Parts: sequence; structure tokens; C-alpha cells
Amino acid sequence: MHSFCYAIQEHITRGVRASKTDLDWEKNMKDTQKHYAGGEIKKARQSSSMGLIIRQKEPTNLETPFDQVDSFLTPTELFYIRSHFPAPKLDFASYQLRINGAVRNPFSLSYKELRDMPSETRVATLECAGNGRVFLIPHVEGAQWELGAVGNAAWTGVPLGALLERAGMEEDACEIVLEGADQGTPDVKPIPPGPISYARSLPRDKAIQREVVIAYQMNGRDLPQDHGYPVRAIVPGHYGMASVKWLTHIHAVREPFQGYWQTSDYGYWDYVDGKPVRRALGEMKLKSEIARPTVYEMLEPNQVYTVSGAAWAGETDVTEIAVSTDGGQTWAEAEFLDPVQRHAWRRWKFDWLTPKQPGQYTLLARAKDAKGGVQPDKHDQNYDTYVINHPLPIEVFVAPKNGN
Ligand code: MTE
Repeated sequence: MHSFCYAIQEHITRGVRASKTDLDWEKNMKDTQKHYAGGEIKKARQSSSMGLIIRQKEPTNLETPFDQVDSFLTPTELFYIRSHFPAPKLDFASYQLRINGAVRNPFSLSYKELRDMPSETRVATLECAGNGRVFLIPHVEGAQWELGAVGNAAWTGVPLGALLERAGMEEDACEIVLEGADQGTPDVKPIPPGPISYARSLPRDKAIQREVVIAYQMNGRDLPQDHGYPVRAIVPGHYGMASVKWLTHIHAVREPFQGYWQTSDYGYWDYVDGKPVRRALGEMKLKSEIARPTVYEMLEPNQVYTVSGAAWAGETDVTEIAVSTDGGQTWAEAEFLDPVQRHAWRRWKFDWLTPKQPGQYTLLARAKDAKGGVQPDKHDQNYDTYVINHPLPIEVFVAPKNGN
């Protein structure tokens, strides 16, 4: 059985314990449900008979079938998995989270101590920076993500800021390095000489924001192993690579961290006085995707078809969504299904009266944000094989089913 299935099994057998944190969860859930009267969290707990799409067997890299996105919260069982190394097996009984570096009072926390701290539940969209890579022309290396390396979940944990406050972070600490327990040899050049762990730094200003949580639950259940059990970081508004799984070490540093996962990999080219400089990827870019119809789907002519999808942004809100059914020549406003909630996606829909004329049609979706930003027309080469946030074309056929 696959390790992910083991994790699910573990969850079923462990069951839901009525601990203090679970009670906190229930309260948070009720609060969240006030906003989502449809009981989205309940929906997110339902399992699906549909599976994830395998992009790589080992390490585990699985994609959400994006055309099945029909709930605000992505069911945990359908949430994409992006891991660079095999998932480490951490035991919650011996788990320790170290917090040290540029702090006055370094300390370690057990799993129980972490769970006994006041917790918060945050809904956040995670998108892998390479999501949509398969749409790039010419073809590029790397995991061939289509539309489903993205999901929206409720994460419960302790704000990172509370841990840094307890540790007494020094004034001159500029970044916080988050390190996972997984190790191996990565594959993007230049490759370090020996095995390394997965580690990413967060700018101090972001790390102390209330929304950044050291999470132990996803959609109201303990994290599955492939999603970072027992503890992971969740950095809402940043690409998924910032949300370090199997987190064991939080390290405040006085110099910008230049680790592999933000220089060799997950970096991009910025320009200073016209000269290219390497920077770490961070904030997610405004993006929308069409979930339905799917590429090359056959649609009936002269019928209303509900085009649907989701849109998300980094440190701003998605405020407008438009759909084109003629390859970008004309655009019509679509309707949001979810209210604005910072760091969470908004699903949308658009009722399209399909043309009477049979043929191939190209659908596009384009979002605008509260800062006046709009999705770019094409992919920015400075991001290489990452940040694919231009409108992605979905080609469909309009033809009568019986061929008449
Ligand atoms: N954390 C560790 N320790 N190891 C990893 O390989 N992958 C990152 C991030 N955190 C990764 C990690 C990347 S690239 C993404 S997109 C997200 O985890 C994916 O989180 P998920 O697998 O829970 O969807």
C-alpha cells in the first residue's frame, strides 16, 4: 500500500481524540462554518472515490484532479503532494521542535507541548510554484504538473510569531530558517556535494504575521504523513515551497540565508540597475484556473455549459474574474462562489451558451486583484520553470454528441 494510504489508515485507526486542541478546533470550525454555511469543513473530511494523479512514485508527487474541485476546502485525500525526498517517519512521542539561533532563550518543544499552546485555524491556498508547468512551450524539465498542484485547506496550529516571541528573537535577526527532517540529494543544478535537508528561510516581517502557523492539523484532522506529520509550517500567501513539512528546527539568523532551496532551486532572476540578481521565490502571484471543462472536452452546441474554476492571490484579494471563450478576443465577467478571504482561493463560475457552430474553441480565465493587478498575458522567462500565472488555455470541441 502507498505511504499516503498508510497515513490515511493511521488517521482512521487513531480516531479523533477529544483533547483540548480538538475542542479548540471545534470552536474554530464553528466560527469558520458561520462564514461557510454549507459546512465546507465537513465536506472536506469526506473521502473521494477518485484518486490523485501520479507524477512521481518515489519520492511521492501526486496531483489533484483539478476538474473535481467542487468544495471550498480541498478534501485532504485529494490534496496534491509535493515532496523532494522520501517522507521521514517521525514519532510524535519523541518529536522535538528546536527554536534557536539569534534568540535570547532558545528552547525545544515536544509535540504535546506544542498542542497545548493556544492554537488558530487558518484557511490557506497552497500552490506549488511549478503548477501548470506542462503548459509551457517549449517543453521544460521538472515534474509535469497540469492544473492540480494547488489546493485550499484549513490548517490548525500555533502562530510562528508566538514561538519567536517566547524565544525572545533578537532585534538583528533578519530571517527565520525553517528546516524539515527529510534528507537527500536534490536534482536541480548546481547540486551540493552531499545529502541535504529541506530548508527555507522566511523574511522576519512575514514570519511574525499572525497567519503563519506551525500546524499539526489539516481540515480538522492530524496531518497525514505525506503532508508533514506531525508538524509543518504553513505560510499563507507564499508559494508552497515555503510551507516546510516535517518541521524540526526553527533558526533565527542575522544574515540572509542562501540555502539550496532558495538559490539553486525555487529562485528567480530579478534586476538591479539592469543587472540580473538571484532572489528566492516568495509571494504567490495572482492566478486563475479553469477546472471545468477539461482540455479537449466535447460540449454540445447551443447549450448552457457552466464553466467553473478558482482564483487566488498572494498578499492581496482577488476582486474580479473574467472568462474568454474565443481565445482572448473578448471577455465576459464571471461570478464568484466564495467571498473574499485573504489567502484563500475564490471559486467562480460562468454560464456559457455554447456556439451553434461546431468547432474548436479556446477558453481562458483572467483575474484582477485589489491592488489593480491583472494576470500577465504570457509567462515571464525570469521565473524559468516556475510562476506560471498567465491565463492557461483550455481547448474544447463543440459538436453534437451523436455527430448529427
Ligand atoms: N517540506 C519538506 N520538508 N520537504 C519538501 O519536499 N516540499 C515543498 C513544501 N514543503 C517540501 C516541503 C513544496 S515544493 C510544496 S509545493 C509543498 O510542501 C507541498 O505541500 P503538500 O505536499 O502538503 O501539498
